[in-house]
Order: sequence, then structure tokens, then C-alpha cells
Amino acid sequence: MSMNENYKIYGAILGTALMAFGIKELAGEIYHAETPEKPGYLIEVAEAGTGGEAAAGGEEAPAVSLGTLLASADATKGQAVAKNCASCHDFTKGGPNKTGPNLYGVVMRKHGTHEGFTYSEAMAAKSADDWSYEALNEFIKSPKTAVPGTKMAYGGLKKDADRANLLAYLATLSDAPVAFPAP
Ligand code: HEC
Repeated sequence: MSMNENYKIYGAILGTALMAFGIKELAGEIYHAETPEKPGYLIEVAEAGTGGEAAAGGEEAPAVSLGTLLASADATKGQAVAKNCASCHDFTKGGPNKTGPNLYGVVMRKHGTHEGFTYSEAMAAKSADDWSYEALNEFIKSPKTAVPGTKMAYGGLKKDADRANLLAYLATLSDAPVAFPAP
């Protein structure tokens, strides 16, 4: 065997070794890439095993009726929540309209009908609808979902308890307070 041929053989061996090493590395990469999926899979199994409990604990608590929320609502806390609205709404009897209409006596008032306020077309179009506690709850939760096209530039009050307390406060702002819906 000439020197040249030896080099060729060494070269071939080295090449093969490198390739084998490369494949092993690559396999390692794939293996490592796959490992994070394993815990996910295990969690899935665990969830399936505990069933309803896992769903109740892991996701949002089941919806509680507005009547139930209002039954334990706190108007004093609601007055504090109303600070979110005070930049645009006055709450006093005979008080002014600001960026938004005066909200004294808003419960069971018709939508978009407070004297002296210029409502959006969307709100004015609903003037046959009462501001029931349910309607107020939906509107305050997400104004633009409840009344698409409203000009109330407010993102919404997301916490059920905050809205219930706020509604309990609004209920007190009336000459003839409206009873809460049954729990
Ligand atoms: C950035 C100003 C702004 C904020 C903050 C705001 N509102 Fe309004 N609100 C308005 C405007 C403007 C309207 C009139 C909407 C229309 O015409 O579409 C309105 C309308 C309303 C109406 C309908 C009243 C009616 O006479 O039909 C209610 C109820 C209401 N707001 C409650 C609230 C409550 C409760 C909050 C606080 C959680 C709040 N708003 C926060 C500006 C605001």
C-alpha cells in the first residue's frame, strides 16, 4: 500500500467516524427537542385522570348568577369602584352631564334617554330597552360588546364582584330603588 492509499483509507475512516458522530449529535438534538413534550404529555394524563376537578380548579370558576352576586354585594365598596367612572359621570341627583350622562337613577331608565345628553346613534337606537341590572352588568363588563358603536370610551370592569358592588351602589342612587333579581 502506498502512502497515498493509506491517507485515503484514514480519510474514509475519519469521514465515517465524523458522520457517525454527526448522526449521534443530530439524534441527540432530536431527543432533546422532544423531551419538553414529555411533561406536557404527563400533565395531560394527570388532568384526564382527575377529570372535572382539574377543570374546575384550573379554569374560571363556574358562572354565578347576577342575583347571587348582588345578594352579597357591598354598595360602599361599589362607591369606591365608581371612581373608575367619575371622570366621565356624575352620580348626584340633578347633577350635570359630563363626558357621559348623569347616572343618578340609571337603574331601569331607558337606554340613551337622559335629558340634555347627546348619545351615540348606537345608544339612542336602544331607547326602548331598560337598563336592567343584567343590561348594566353586561354593558359595564364590556361596553363595546354590549352596545357596539357606543361612544363610552371605557374598556370594561372585568371582575364580577366589582361589577356587583358597583350595581349595588347604583341601586342606592334612586328615589325608588329597584329590587335585585332573585339569586
Ligand atoms: C371615558 C369616559 C367614560 C367612562 C370612564 C365611563 N363612561 Fe359610561 N358613558 C360614557 C359616555 C360617553 C356614554 C354615552 C354612550 C353612548 O352614547 O354611546 C356613557 C354611557 C353610560 C351608560 C348609559 C347611560 C344611559 O343614559 O343610557 C351607563 C349605564 C354608563 N355609562 C355607566 C358607566 C359606568 C358604571 C362606568 C364606570 C365603570 C362608566 N360608565 C365609565 C363615558 C364614560
